[in-house]
Amino acid sequence: MKDRSRTDGEYLLYLAGSGVSFADSAAGRARAYAATGIRSNRIPSARTSLPARPFTKDASRGMIDRDTEMTVRTDPFNLAYPSYAATRALDDLRQRNHPLLDGLGHVYLDYTAGNLVPLGLVERHASLLRDHVLGNPHSTNPASALTTTFVEQARESVLEFFNADPDEYVVVFTANATQALKLVGESYPFVPDGDYLLTFDNHNSVNGIREFARARGCPTTYVPVVLPDMRVNDDELASLLGRAPRGGRRLFAYPAQSNFSGVQHPLDWIPLAQEQGWDVLLDAAAFTPTNRLDLTRWKPDFVSQSFYKVFGYPTGVGCLIARRAALARLHRPWFAGGTITVASVQGDRFYLAENESGFEDGTPNYLALPAVEFGLQYISEIGIDTIHTRVRCLTAWLIERLIALRHSNGAALARVYGPRSDARRGGTITFNLYDRDGRAIDHRDVEQRANVSNISLRTGCFCNPGGGEIALGITGTELSSCFHQPEHETHLTIDDFRLCIDGKSTGAVRVSLGLVSNLKDVEAFVQFAETFLS
Ligand SMILES: Cc1ncc(COP(=O)(O)O)c(C=O)c1O
Repeated sequence: MKDRSRTDGEYLLYLAGSGVSFADSAAGRARAYAATGIRSNRIPSARTSLPARPFTKDASRGMIDRDTEMTVRTDPFNLAYPSYAATRALDDLRQRNHPLLDGLGHVYLDYTAGNLVPLGLVERHASLLRDHVLGNPHSTNPASALTTTFVEQARESVLEFFNADPDEYVVVFTANATQALKLVGESYPFVPDGDYLLTFDNHNSVNGIREFARARGCPTTYVPVVLPDMRVNDDELASLLGRAPRGGRRLFAYPAQSNFSGVQHPLDWIPLAQEQGWDVLLDAAAFTPTNRLDLTRWKPDFVSQSFYKVFGYPTGVGCLIARRAALARLHRPWFAGGTITVASVQGDRFYLAENESGFEDGTPNYLALPAVEFGLQYISEIGIDTIHTRVRCLTAWLIERLIALRHSNGAALARVYGPRSDARRGGTITFNLYDRDGRAIDHRDVEQRANVSNISLRTGCFCNPGGGEIALGITGTELSSCFHQPEHETHLTIDDFRLCIDGKSTGAVRVSLGLVSNLKDVEAFVQFAETFLS
């Protein structure tokens, strides 16, 4: 591996007691550099060694510069992101709840796909199952009644976690975010003079709703995201939202955070759209694990969520949080066990139960639901703002480090798709690596080498084809000519697809940070990336 510590050459000094306070921002970092007297805009490496200056070690103060008698910190990350220090409790939590990470030297960088299972949560859930007799909640016997109590407690805890008024919102438990989205899609009153509007960077589970719209003759419109930041042009969105209504209901769907680029789209799109008659479906799956979603402040009509993304355990439970008024506008295409008050065979009628009960098909995952309440308590006790701060600092640092990596001829190693600053973005970083001649390194090779290094990351398009098409420069014309070839009528392999798009990358590499990520994970990844330098 190339040793870059020699070439970094710059060091940051922390002036103890100087009264200089460094904010976690570009301006703060600039001030940090200025305070050191170092004239450089180079991004320092956290692996830099001490400069050759006269230092003494002091047990309480650390390293002291003998010339200036000042405390020297050689740790540019903590200097640039001082608020990270307030998140140290997460390090203890990592040791207690995820000992395998450090025990096995596993660098987990796939939090956007799924959070890790906290041991304490599993133990708490196991003792609840051990200590209670729990039956199917669709009854009134004691085992059933107790389960119903736990299910309703879990429901209340979801509303509480999102600060949602129970008079305004209901929680429909589902298997995952996808099922929540499908409930909306299959029940939304799409009509030919309605509209389905969505951003390019939606997950496929939101894209798929267009097929329900199509089946009912309702047009779908995509709002593009624009490189390099992969944000939406505000004017373009305003003009699409401002289109004159044609009579039918209109649904606007977007991710609060893109699982492709990490972009956080503005939550103030919610009132903006609603004021113009749109129902708003906010896909919060990638957002809520590290950000506060306050449903008293923001009032989307529908919110989709998978709980394993927020606290790692259990899988198989998600929810649709819906405004009561919006839920009442949906028309379920069928009925099922658990969703009706009365259904008759001879009378050929059914009467749907009201609110959430009409949408929870069959038996809910009732044994897992108490663990949802515990998981939400777990996150609340840590503090979502603490998690947010940690992930923000590490994300900014990782991006800085990644984009600073250069081949010996000066060519950049990485091309990041999405914002390069920590403003209005989450801990998902997507990029491709390039060789010294600017040729893309196949994302599958990056993944294979990461696997060998015990680094868990993700490659491909992450179920987000629109994000991928924009990032990788794949045009609509290329795609439609590919899809309309007779041999691709019903079947298209990834290799066929690669040929169609003329050798362009078909995917990217994604690393994502979360609840118990630490600086060591980031540095391990940067060291791994350095192995691609030549
Ligand atoms: C933004 C976003 N929406 C929806 C989903 C779908 O979640 P699930 O597969 O748990 O249903 C994901 C999953 O990665 C996601 O990242």
